[in-house]
Order: sequence, then C-alpha cells, then structure tokens
Amino acid sequence: MSNLSRRNLLSLGAALGLVGATGAAPALAAPSSKAAANDPWWVWDDELDALMGRLLRDDQIPAINTAMGSWVNNNDSLPEGLPAELADWLQEVNKLPSWADQEKLRLAADLNRRWDTYQFVVYGIGSGIMSTVIPREAKSVYWSAGGADMQDRAAKTFTFGYDLNELNAFEPDGQMVVTANKTRLVHAAVRNLLPQSAHWQSVADEPYRLPISNGDILITFHSLGTFLRKKFQEWQIPMTPEEEEAFLHMWQVAIHLLGVRDEFIPKTWAEAEAQSAEVLTPLIAPTFEGRELAEDLLGLTAQVDLGVSRGFLNEFVRYVLNDQIGDWLNLKRDPASKEFIRNGFPAYIAFREGLIPVAPAGFYVFDQFIRALAMMFLNKGASPTTTPITIPTGNRPG
Ligand code: HEM
Repeated sequence: MSNLSRRNLLSLGAALGLVGATGAAPALAAPSSKAAANDPWWVWDDELDALMGRLLRDDQIPAINTAMGSWVNNNDSLPEGLPAELADWLQEVNKLPSWADQEKLRLAADLNRRWDTYQFVVYGIGSGIMSTVIPREAKSVYWSAGGADMQDRAAKTFTFGYDLNELNAFEPDGQMVVTANKTRLVHAAVRNLLPQSAHWQSVADEPYRLPISNGDILITFHSLGTFLRKKFQEWQIPMTPEEEEAFLHMWQVAIHLLGVRDEFIPKTWAEAEAQSAEVLTPLIAPTFEGRELAEDLLGLTAQVDLGVSRGFLNEFVRYVLNDQIGDWLNLKRDPASKEFIRNGFPAYIAFREGLIPVAPAGFYVFDQFIRALAMMFLNKGASPTTTPITIPTGNRPG
C-alpha cells in the first residue's frame, strides 16, 4: 500500500472546482508526483467530480434526480432534461467496455442464480458487516446523508446487488449499466460533499483526502467478490475454473462501470487475492462510525422476524467473518448458537449440494433464516420499475 504520509501534497480543491457552501474551498490534498497517476489511491474520477461540483453549486441535482427516475434499463435512451454537459458525459460511459464478454457474463448470471442462497449469507451477513470495519468506507458512509437512514441506504445499496444478480444484468433489457452509472454519479457527489463536512474532515485518515478513490472501490470489491470466492472455497461449494473466471469477469465489468481504471482491475483471481491481502486485510479496524453502522444494520433485522434470536445473528456474523471483528463490534456471545452454527451450517450446505442424503437437524432453521433475510432485502430493495438511487445534495444532518 502507498505510504501516504511521505507524499508531496498539493491542493486539488481548485482543480476540481470544489468550493464549500461557505465559499471556501476545502483544502484537498493530492500528491504532485507523476507516480500518482498510476496509483489507485490517488485516482478519483476527475472529470466527473468537477462536473458534479458545478451541478451541485448550480442546484441542478433535484431536477437531475427527477429526470433520472425514468432511466432504468441498459437500452433506455438517456432521459430528457439532463444538463447537456452531464448528458454528453453519460453518452461516453453508459455502455459496456469493449472487452466485456457476454458469454462469461451469462455464465456468471446463471451462477448467481444458483448461488443466491449462499450469496445472501456472504454478502448480507459477511460483506455488509465487513464494510463497517473498513475505516474509510465506514466514515464516508456514516457522515454522508445516507448514514442517517441506514435502512434506506441498505435498500439502495441492495439495488446494486439485485441488478448485478439479474439473469439479464448486462443485456440490453437489464439494468446494471444504468445502476452502476447512477452509483458513479452518487460517488462523485459524495467526493464533493464530504469535504464540506467538519465531522468527516475531523476523522478522515489523511487530512482532507478525498473519499472513494479507485483504491477504495477496489477494497470494497475485495470485501464482496474476492471474499465471496474465498468463503465458497472454505465452505466447499463447488466452482469450476470457468465459473470462477466468469464470476471475476462480472466484477471486472462492474468496477469498470464504477469508474475504476482498467489498469488497476485485477486480471486473475491470483492477482485479486494478492491485492486483497495487501490492501484490505491489514486495513480493517474498528471505528466509532463503523460500530454505529453495524449496530444500525444488525438492528434492522430486529424489526423483521428472521426466526432467530439476536444472539444467533451475532454468532452468524462471527462465523462468516471472525471473532476479532465480532469483538470489535461488541457482538455479544451466545455459546449455544455458536455450536449450532458451527455444526449445522456446513451440514446445511452439504445437504443442499447433494453431498448428504438426509436433511440434517437444524436445516429448517437455516433455511427459514436465509429466506427471511432474502425477503427482507428484496422487499426493501427491489422495485420492479425504478432504480431508486438518487444523487445526494448534502451530508448527514447535524
Ligand atoms: C453510495 C455501491 C464503493 C461510499 C452508493 C450507492 C451504491 C453504492 C449502490 C447508492 C446507494 C445510496 O445512495 O445510498 C458501491 C459499490 C462499491 C462502492 C458497488 C464498490 C464495489 C464505495 C466506497 C465508498 C463508498 C469505497 C467509500 C470509501 C459511498 C457513500 C455513498 C455511496 C458515502 C452515498 C450514501 C448517501 O446517500 O449519502 N454506493 N459503493 N462506496 N457509497 Fe458506494
């Protein structure tokens, strides 16, 4: 990972056109060295970030959000009513990269369908909670507008996963290209807004560093895709080399659409594993913001009857992630649930995969829990007609 403190820093604020509500440009820092151009930690989305800065200042976002409401499918033409500059920018990027391979994307879609039960567990219980111990992500999410309403935010974020997992995600009548572009716009707005938050500034790890660099997005990818593959291997869920490659390809296309430069995207799982070990594993740590977000997220499930106790949920998080993260997040122990999960979940998988003939004791507890978890996400997140991702215009109130 870059040694950020040794870098020569210069103000990026003027270059990006980032001027706070007070009229003062936040002092954003970036390295002056040429190497920065090749360093994902110092690459953001310069052209879009500057454009979004202007649109925010000119109070154009509410109208853009309204216009974008009807823009859903990959083959929809761009909506009427967008500022010309934004329409021109979207025209350039609102398409699959030339290297996208539809065959691999279709295979990945089939796999997602086959694996969706396990994905709810890995993404929902694992990656979702892991995001709260990725300090830069937790601080950004907590101090942005969405951090104040985690239920709404979780639902919107789920839209991304939902659209990504649709069979036709990257086909003309799918929605993933549009959803990814909307997300890219949200991230660009966040890069303009968070530097105006005194709260965020006071906790940002590098003083005044912009959030959501290409490196940060790669870390989040590792907490999702790379983590999922690792868990599947650990849980002995069968995957052929072609399936693994297709799954990686789907994520490569998704992070390209989120604005990560192609040269930073891992080409193989070996590269992804190495990058994850370098940039994600050593970075995770508890923060005030992360603890609050985790409590919010786990508390959401208390509103829904998942058929299990909070103690079971705590132990499931510990099982999918690890005890260190469980301790950081003060997840109370429940020894009986711990034993039940450690013995029962591998047997649940083995039965589902046809490796044992008779449903093991506890099968229905896991089955019901995962179904309820899925319904919770689906009810809140999925809307058949619109993708409810909107560009924020402010930070967390207060
Ligand atoms: C918003 C997905 C990486 C911080 C969103 C939204 C989606 C999303 C779908 C829109 C939902 C909403 O408006 O709440 C992703 C994906 C990522 C990624 C798929 C990488 C694979 C990151 C990273 C950070 C981040 C690395 C911070 C370091 C945020 C913030 C918001 C946001 C602060 C706005 C929340 C608000 O509305 O205030 N992201 N994101 N994201 N994301 Fe990301």
